[in-house]
Amino acid sequence: MTRKILVAAALFASTAYVVACGGDKAEGAGATTPKPEVSSAAPEVKSAEPAVSSAAAPSATPEPPKVKTPFEKLGGKDGITKAVDAIIKKIGDDKRINKYFAKTVKDPKKLEALKANLVDQITAAVGGPGEYKGKDMVAAHKGMNLKEADFTAFVEDVAAGLKDAGVADEDAKPILDTLNGMKDQVVDNGKKAPKPAASAAASTSAKPKGK
Ligand code: HEM
Repeated sequence: MTRKILVAAALFASTAYVVACGGDKAEGAGATTPKPEVSSAAPEVKSAEPAVSSAAAPSATPEPPKVKTPFEKLGGKDGITKAVDAIIKKIGDDKRINKYFAKTVKDPKKLEALKANLVDQITAAVGGPGEYKGKDMVAAHKGMNLKEADFTAFVEDVAAGLKDAGVADEDAKPILDTLNGMKDQVVDNGKKAPKPAASAAASTSAKPKGK
């Protein structure tokens, strides 16, 4: 009787164990299933990277900015040389001031030297290469007793010459601004006594003040 009870108790206990363990195993297998889903998401993130870098590459290519410098806009040294020729012509035709340049125009060497100096000055005024090697403006005009009207006429001739050479107003402006900034060095720096009548009548007697 006691044996039967013990056997029955043992059977019940083992059945309970199997049930309990079988349930655990099933749960454990289910818990490992979602893991591949997590790792399979990783390649998707990687595949997005090349798309970003390939999108940046073409945007760097179509940006070649072609902005001309003021020096290039004038046509470089050649363009400035043509402009100076036009300026010299304007000054030579200008009865208000051409008496000052009578000696220079007659002497090819002097004329070439003046042209070269003006080319260098204009080149420097627009930030071009090289440097001005002539006299400073005070020394160059010392004793000429130039007046404001002479200066204004000169700058007007420069402006007209630049226009004749095809220089746009906006490109001429920095040059004219530079010249206007030199006024104090050019005007009233002569040591001779002023002769107001002489400058008015000078267009007929082509002799300026003798050097
Ligand atoms: C901002 C205005 C001016 C500039 C930038 C200028 C520029 C020059 C330069 C670069 C020279 C040559 C200097 C050298 O030999 O080393 C020169 C000489 C001379 N300038 Fe001017 N000048 C100006 C105004 C004037 C004016 C208003 C007159 C007369 C109306 C004048 C008459 C002369 C004369 C007669 C010479 C001497 C030319 C020679 O040596 O054969 N300049 N000027």
